[in-house]
Amino acid sequence: MNRLLMHVGPSIGNRDVLLAGARDNIGFATKDFVQAMGDSLEGLRMVMGVGGKFQPFILPGSGTSAMESVASFLHEGDRVLIITNGIFGNRWEGIFSRYRVKCDVVGAEAGESVTPDMIREKTEGSHYRMSFMTHVETSTGVRAPVDSLLKELKKVSDLITVDGVASAGGELVDAEKRGIDICLTASQKAIGAPPGAGLLVASEKAMSQLADDSLAGYSLNLKNWLPIMKGMEEGRGGYFATPPINTVFSLQEAFRLIAEETMAARLERHKMASGMLRAGIRGMGMEVVAGEGIESNTVTGLRLKNSKQKDVLEKSMKLGVEFGSGVHPGVKPDYIRIGHMGWVQEHHVLRALSVLERSLKASGESIKAAEGVKAAQEFIT
Ligand SMILES: Cc1ncc(COP(=O)(O)O)c(C=O)c1O
Repeated sequence: MNRLLMHVGPSIGNRDVLLAGARDNIGFATKDFVQAMGDSLEGLRMVMGVGGKFQPFILPGSGTSAMESVASFLHEGDRVLIITNGIFGNRWEGIFSRYRVKCDVVGAEAGESVTPDMIREKTEGSHYRMSFMTHVETSTGVRAPVDSLLKELKKVSDLITVDGVASAGGELVDAEKRGIDICLTASQKAIGAPPGAGLLVASEKAMSQLADDSLAGYSLNLKNWLPIMKGMEEGRGGYFATPPINTVFSLQEAFRLIAEETMAARLERHKMASGMLRAGIRGMGMEVVAGEGIESNTVTGLRLKNSKQKDVLEKSMKLGVEFGSGVHPGVKPDYIRIGHMGWVQEHHVLRALSVLERSLKASGESIKAAEGVKAAQEFIT
């Protein structure tokens, strides 16, 4: 069966992107690979909304590798502030409680976002080396109100890192204009390539902190990767550790397609797909996990009333659509997550909604056939 992947990551595939990576093994010093890496580093700047003053990195691993590589900008005894809206925001604490830094945490209830007032209350009289926040919290589908939070964070923090794993490529990141110092993502999310790489951009100010005595270990130490990234952009091959070669060829094609579509059109497409999906969910009489006004364009949580996620997911899978499981223990009684990022189109959303109508009904929800699809159709027209 040709199953549709509406998971929160990896996201829906694109044949050209996948085929670009499906090639014979090739060395990392070859002209082809150096070109692919150079193009991808430049493509990353485009998606993050930064210019030549920002240093891009493409690392082997995933979003979590990019998160952990941020230790390259920290030193022993630094204070850091973690703004968390859920499971992935909490991951910053999971990572940095392993390092010799002091973490303060401001957290929101499931489906909500930390507010500027909550930051003000927590940080009164404090100063931090770095603050962390998650643009789109994948466990609930909440998009943080980035601008109002950044305004507060800039008052108390030297550097600001934004996790754009579930946003970059599907939401407006605009890191340079917004004054974000470090923004990171992963290859398999809204950029729409296969898994295998963690991606990150860093401002000049952040790069000036990259020192020999940082807290980073060896393989994710950005100081070790910097000459390689610079060399690749200047057309020279180099080695520190083996890069995710085939994923980089896919990334090169993904960024080429993104440039061809334009970021503006891509963001509009994500807005349309997520709007249709939410209209469809509400049209069926069901609810979205994220509070009104903070719903993301890339991930949606669907609250279940009388059914269990296991049943809905299994039935949907049998009907040809793969959704993601609910993972935030604070969402009661149960929920599932729907990813709509990367190469998502209107027809994917319509197919997902019609499968959901059937799987939800078969799992115990009272849904009338075609109510969701009708609401989504009405949203488009
Ligand atoms: C917001 C966010 N941050 C970080 C991660 C971790 O990324 P990875 O699974 O690629 O390591 C994820 C993964 O889903 C995520 O959604």
